[in-house]
Amino acid sequence: MTVDLSVFEDLAALSHEAARCFVVTAREAVLCTGRCSVALSGGRTPVPLFELLATEYRDIMPWEAMDWYWVDERAVPPDHPESNFGLVWDRLLSRVPVAPEAIHRMEGEAANLDRAARRYEATLRTGLPDLTIDLALLGVGDDGHTASLFPGSPVLSEATRLVRHVRGDAALPVPDRLTLTLPALARARTILVLAAGASKRPVVEAIQADPELAAQRYPIARVRAAGHLTWLVDEAAAGVPAPRL
Ligand code: 6PG
Repeated sequence: MTVDLSVFEDLAALSHEAARCFVVTAREAVLCTGRCSVALSGGRTPVPLFELLATEYRDIMPWEAMDWYWVDERAVPPDHPESNFGLVWDRLLSRVPVAPEAIHRMEGEAANLDRAARRYEATLRTGLPDLTIDLALLGVGDDGHTASLFPGSPVLSEATRLVRHVRGDAALPVPDRLTLTLPALARARTILVLAAGASKRPVVEAIQADPELAAQRYPIARVRAAGHLTWLVDEAAAGVPAPRL
């Protein structure tokens, strides 16, 4: 698979391109099917994008036709500072005209996260009859993780389920989480991967040099999309300057 990657001067420029892609993808999906489903990530990188969508791009987004899902969630309640739902709610969804029925958050607070994962899979199967997410927004960890798919995790070999509980343990020292799986992401029509900052450079360089080799080490390199998979990276993550027009 070739990697479609564009380099931007900084996170601000990258976020503008992400917002443009977001709006174009949403409008195209609404034109073709009447609705647009998106699955969002947490992390720091998408925050300026959320800000742009809530302000500068607000009037050109088809808000009333959007359905909101998450690619992953931490095992915390929705009002916790670490909640991915909480981040998107505060920075974006609480500020735009979205109906509560269009918001499908993962239950990070559930006492039984295996059951919460199965419930979220049922939510996807009900809300997305052909199981296609129109737009998935992914980040990249310094270790090459994406969503909550971490290097060495058994969840990486999931072949059928769309949502899994990720258990932290000594070998995988992360707090428990819920995540979409690689097969769920592979059904996404468009995937946008955002990477900013020098700490992401080893992952970005490895994927550009040899995507197959990178896939052995970095979960993000194993992500496939049904349609387009596009990386938007800043100069610090790319290690090369953005094209100057
Ligand atoms: C999360 C994510 C995760 C994130 C990366 C990048 O819940 O943390 O969904 O996969 O996208 O860790 O995070 P940054 O954008 O903060 O670098």
